Amino acid sequence: MKFFVDTAEIDAIAELNDLGMVDGVTTNPSLIKKSGRDILEVTKEICDLVDGPVSAEVTATDADEMIAEGRKLVKIADNIAVKVPLTWDGLKACKTLTSEGHMVNVTLCFSANQALLAAKAGATFISPFIGRLDDIALDGMDLIEDIRTIYDNFGFETEVLAASIRSANHVQDCARVGADVITAPPAVIKALANHPLTDKGLAAFLADIKAANIKIL
Ligand code: E4P
Repeated sequence: MKFFVDTAEIDAIAELNDLGMVDGVTTNPSLIKKSGRDILEVTKEICDLVDGPVSAEVTATDADEMIAEGRKLVKIADNIAVKVPLTWDGLKACKTLTSEGHMVNVTLCFSANQALLAAKAGATFISPFIGRLDDIALDGMDLIEDIRTIYDNFGFETEVLAASIRSANHVQDCARVGADVITAPPAVIKALANHPLTDKGLAAFLADIKAANIKIL
């Protein structure tokens, strides 16, 4: 399973990238706003840092404008994936941009039928939002499972990019049900290393190291 980082913060991306944890990056208008940076400038910096796909989201809602924005975004770097919303216009833009050979990430997916349409429109990635479904007392992971089953039933090549990930459990469940990619904030990716028994075990070992004055260097 690939790890994308869901942020526009350069330092956080660089730290994870140095450890080989970054297969790609996703951004959205809210993350760009949070970074306080110009979209074109910060996206270019991310693309220079990371080898994998970097999703940059369009701002328009009309298909022709989305296509024009997408064509501008792909000029930033070869690894840009144009992010379009899962609307009828977004699907039109997806079809055009993928036909031109560009990567497209169809975002704001909340149903299996929406994911089916995105695959038929040639999407490179479909982004179902787990956390936002959980927020309204639905089960986001059921959606990931349904999309996985449907794509496998018909051999769709669109990659399931599980988004709106809020916890380590979300990541583990995505791996279990077969999401191709997860995109998560840096803090969630780092939290995957945590376990209370690791902390407890290390504390015990450190106490014994001190008591026995064990030295290596
Ligand atoms: C994905 O591409 C989105 O940017 C992101 O995962 C949304 O997450 P949120 O629901 O926590 O804002």
